[in-house]
Amino acid sequence: MSDRRQRVFSGIQPTGEAHLGNYLGAIRNWVELVDDYDCLYCIVDLHAIITEYEPSEMQERVFDLAVSLLASGLDPERCTLFVQSDVPEHTELAWIFNTVTPLGELGRMTQFKDKSRGRESVSAGLLDYPVLQAADILLYRAGLVPVGEDQFQHLELSRDIARRWNVRFGELFPEPQPLVGHAPRILGVDGASKMSKSAGNTIPLLAEPDEIGKRLATAVTDPDRVRRNDPGNPHVCNIFALHGHFSPAGVREEVEARCQTATIGCVDCKRKLASHMAEDLAPIRERARALREDPDRVYGILDAGAARCRRLARDTLEQVYEHMGLARRHVPAPAG
Ligand code: TYM
Repeated sequence: MSDRRQRVFSGIQPTGEAHLGNYLGAIRNWVELVDDYDCLYCIVDLHAIITEYEPSEMQERVFDLAVSLLASGLDPERCTLFVQSDVPEHTELAWIFNTVTPLGELGRMTQFKDKSRGRESVSAGLLDYPVLQAADILLYRAGLVPVGEDQFQHLELSRDIARRWNVRFGELFPEPQPLVGHAPRILGVDGASKMSKSAGNTIPLLAEPDEIGKRLATAVTDPDRVRRNDPGNPHVCNIFALHGHFSPAGVREEVEARCQTATIGCVDCKRKLASHMAEDLAPIRERARALREDPDRVYGILDAGAARCRRLARDTLEQVYEHMGLARRHVPAPAG
């Protein structure tokens, strides 16, 4: 039976452990969408090879991420989870999109500018990354893309690519819109920049309670609260922001009031957060442990996801080739 629900697509890189930025900014929303949309979620390994990586670790990273996603509540009966390199059509469509993407727009991407700054040599892949991302989404003609704020610019480019292709070859692709969740930008433990693996400021989603405690212990709080008896401002403090995602309302109100009156110190405030965070994430850690024991189940889910996506992808590419005059039936009939 065909699924008539609107299609959602999103991707995540297997760059080591998923962290709380990924979880709060994206994965949690992915889980919420599965009943209302036809959701495709992709482990984008072909994106992850753009920066230096160790080939012998890649499969473990993909497996660990699949475990984290399933453990976070993605139910394979209600959504499709797959690995990008299992569906070669992603790169096929990326090539096609390269032909309608202005070079200047790629050079203006903030992530490209950040990642290439100060480097002697920059790969064409780093520049081309958002074109592959556009292909990921448009291959499935997905209209909605749940992402954190850092991906908005890439999505804008995806819309631009869809528009340019449609104008040139005929209406085929929707212009994908971002779906913003409850936490579009989670800061790292430095309290200053986006939580990300490359900034080294993460709390891993599957961190054990003592690890959570350790990471939070070094976290930056209100910089103006220098001494224990200085009143603090919870609204500039990342620890307070994180309480908002993990602690019950009563605890949030208590730490807010006590921070402002200097009747709680940052150390205690962090301990409370660590304990609620560890408790909230415990079921995910539990499920991840069980899934790790059952790799056949995990690979079975990924294989089934890839099989479905290959069918969908082939169908789109056939239409793309048709519109572009690349399908065999365009060979002119012999004269005479
Ligand atoms: P990636 O792997 O960096 O991140 C995966 C998802 O997590 C979100 N995210 C955050 N949200 C809030 N606060 C943070 N600190 C934070 N860190 C990460 C990201 O916004 C993202 O939604 N280019 C993408 C992967 C990708 C993709 C796609 C996404 C490839 N193809 C197609 C959507 C559609 C990336 O590197 O995400």
